[in-house]
Order: sequence, then structure tokens, then C-alpha cells
Amino acid sequence: MADTRALLRRTAELAADFLDSLEDRPVFPQLSADELRSRLRVPLQEEPLEPEQVVEELAAAADPGIVAIPSGRYFGFVIGGGLPAALASDWLTSTWDQNAGLYVGGPAASVVEQVVRGWVCELLALPPDASIGLVTGSQMGSVTALAAARYRVLERAGWDVARDGLAGGPRVRVLVGEKRHVTIDRALRLLGLGAPEPVAADGQGRMDAGALRAALERGEGPTIVCAQAGEVNTGAFDPFEQIAEATAAHGAWLHVDGAFGLWAAASPRLRGLVRGVEHADSWITDAHKWLNVPYDSALVLCKDGEAHRAAMTVSASYLIQDDGARTVRDQVDWVPEFSRRARGFAVYAALRSLGRSGLRDLVERTCECARQFAEGIVSVPGVELVNEVVLNQVLFRFASDEETDDVLRRVQDAGDVWMSGTTWDGRRAIRVSVSNWQTTEEEIGLALKSFREAPQPAHAPAR
Ligand SMILES: Cc1ncc(COP(=O)(O)O)c(C=O)c1O
Repeated sequence: MADTRALLRRTAELAADFLDSLEDRPVFPQLSADELRSRLRVPLQEEPLEPEQVVEELAAAADPGIVAIPSGRYFGFVIGGGLPAALASDWLTSTWDQNAGLYVGGPAASVVEQVVRGWVCELLALPPDASIGLVTGSQMGSVTALAAARYRVLERAGWDVARDGLAGGPRVRVLVGEKRHVTIDRALRLLGLGAPEPVAADGQGRMDAGALRAALERGEGPTIVCAQAGEVNTGAFDPFEQIAEATAAHGAWLHVDGAFGLWAAASPRLRGLVRGVEHADSWITDAHKWLNVPYDSALVLCKDGEAHRAAMTVSASYLIQDDGARTVRDQVDWVPEFSRRARGFAVYAALRSLGRSGLRDLVERTCECARQFAEGIVSVPGVELVNEVVLNQVLFRFASDEETDDVLRRVQDAGDVWMSGTTWDGRRAIRVSVSNWQTTEEEIGLALKSFREAPQPAHAPAR
């Protein structure tokens, strides 16, 4: 045990050294994949190695290939960092090594998820008795929620999908916004529901509720509608009140992908963006994005807990499951995984460390930083702001696709900040996502400086 204690202490030092290095290390690795391979690809030796040697060598070899994602200078995709309490609790989670599939695999892991359920429903103003599953990411959140939706809409049509499968049953129509996230399509594919019918969206990516109404009226039978809180490029929100009304009038199931945007509900200032979202049937959101919990961690919630459970539940004679009176909760009944990580601890720790006001501040501060960036970037010659900055995302471009990509590459190569590119309305754009708990005005200033100083290529004629 003394050896393990020393190993964990040394590992904590290595972790702290990494966190210290976030101050000034290049945000993106400056090594090629080949160089990384040559650092990590050692022959696998025959004999065991001392754990300390393994960890020291791994840390040293991998370090130059680690992206400074936990840094406030990282603006890529929509990726948060790790709040200290969440990070530390995640370490404990690995140490405790609970199998959080069953109550008996870790009673505290089960109970902590129930506590998280209550807090999250309250913070996001969702129905207080919604059921919850803690999954790896929004991708599996949508698989879970849409499995519940599939179960329920088919059951209403007199078809038992659990027993009879999909073949020969009524066709399930799925309507999605034109700008839904790709993970919705993959969830539908995995569930055998095929490609969805896209509904027109406006220039910001918001689903057109009128077009949805018309599409609903064009068909009948079991129907699922997928709406979105926070478009991945623009941060735009679908008009939930109207969508929920149209969906309910048609007896359809409404699923909301709120991978990051759902957290707007935690701020009185931003809550209007999600008005009506509580009328949906299912919601997903990530903990590993804006809540700044380490990967991988997301929440799926369903108003219809019975459909949720029916879609996920398993039983086997060797399992000691809950007592039927539901006084204890087996997580296998609510998620697609069987053996699984006790990911509730880190979510619990993140929420406790923030408290209500800390969560509100995190959401509002990052949105304010995005607004500051947007205000500053438009003064860089040639920049066109593409989105209405309603949340924590800023989308902008230069005069031509070549120039946009070229400037982005220069900024990325300079290493002070990192953000990614995208294609919006058929043209290249740069997207800045402010999702990290450590991002302040200072990092925004640095990002603006990087763009001001990125040597401009010869100007392409403006279009
Ligand atoms: C709107 C939206 N939905 C779903 C996802 C997928 O989330 P995850 O990577 O956690 O599966 C993302 C990720 O960026 C997203 O922005």
C-alpha cells in the first residue's frame, strides 16, 4: 500500500505540473502524428514494469501530444474543461472503481445519480419527476431518449417494438430541423429508424415552426420530432413553445438536443431562450461541455419514465436487482450500458462546487465573453460576423474561403489560442466557443490579438 500511496502522490504531482503548464504551453500539439507514434510505440516487453516507471514514461511521452483543452485559451468545438472538484471526484471515481450498473455494484453511485436528477430538473426547470440516465455523451443520450420515443409512439399505435422489432410494424416518421446535430442522425440509424425528414430552418439554424406544422399535417401515424437548444455553430435555439404545441396537437414525441444550450435555463438572463422547452418529452445535455465535468459525461431525461425504463431495462437471473418497490435504483434500467463508470460523482461534485449562483455565473460569464469577442472581432479588417451572438458561440468569416482557412491556420499555428473551422451556408467560417470555466476577458483579449496579428494573406476580392 505504501508503494501505491507514493505512486498516487507522484501522479498527483504530474497532474498538477500539467495544469501549471496550461498557463503558457501551446494550445495545440506541435508534433506530427509520426513523431508521436515514435515516442509512444515502444516494443511491449515480456516482463511487468514498475507502475511508477510506466506512469512516468507515459506522461513524458504523451505530454507533447496533449491538447490544452482544460485551458481557458481553448475555444474549439464546444468543449469545456474540468472544474477542480469534478476533476478530483473523477479521480476518486476511478479509485473506487464501482460498477455503477447495479445498486449492488455501488450503492453510493446509484444514490448520487438520484440526487443529481433532482438538482438538474430544478436547475433546468424540467418536470420534477423526469427520469434520468447518466451516459457517455449526448450521442448516447439521444440513442436512449429516442429508444424511449420509439417504444412509446409504437406502443400507442398498438405495436410492441421490444417484442416484435421494427419489421412489419407501422413506420415511424421522424422530423428534425435542417440544422440538427449529426448525432441525431446516427441515433436514428442505430435504432433502425432510418433517415429523418428535415424541416426548414432559418439563417441562424432555428427550425421553422410553421414548416414543422405543415410537415406534421402531411403525414400521420407514430411520429417523433427532434428540436435543438443550441445549434453547434451559431448557438441558436429552436422556438420550443410553438414546436411543442404543434407536436402535442399531433400526438408526437418531442425530443430536445440541448447538448450545451439547455444550461441557458440556469440563468434568469438567458432563460427566455429555452421558453417552452419543459413541454418536451425528452431532453439530453452534456455535463462534459458547459458544466465542465471531465469526459465522458452526459444526462438524458424523460418525462415518460415508464417508456424510458421499458426501452432500456434488462434482467438476468444472476443479477441482484432492485426490490420492485423501487426503493433502490439500478442504473442498467435507464442507460444502454451494462457495466459502467460511476459518472454521477463528478457531476454531483461540479454542481455542489458551483452552487446555483456559480452555475449561473459560469453560463453568463462565458456568454459575456463570447459577446466581447464578437464586438472585438468585427473591427479586424475583412471580418464578417455570421451569427447573432445569443449564447456562447461566435461565427465569423473573412472575404473568401481561402482567406478564412488561411487566417485560422495562422492563428492555430501561433499556438496562443485554438478554435476550429466549419462550413456554414456553403462557405467557410471560424467558430469560437466559450465553454471553459477559466476563460475570462484576458483570454478573449488574447484571442482577438491573435486574429489582429495573424499576418493577412494577399486579399482576395470581396464577394
Ligand atoms: C448540439 C449538439 N448535439 C450533440 C452533440 C454531441 O455530443 P457528444 O459529443 O457529447 O456526444 C454535440 C457536440 O458538439 C452538439 O453540439
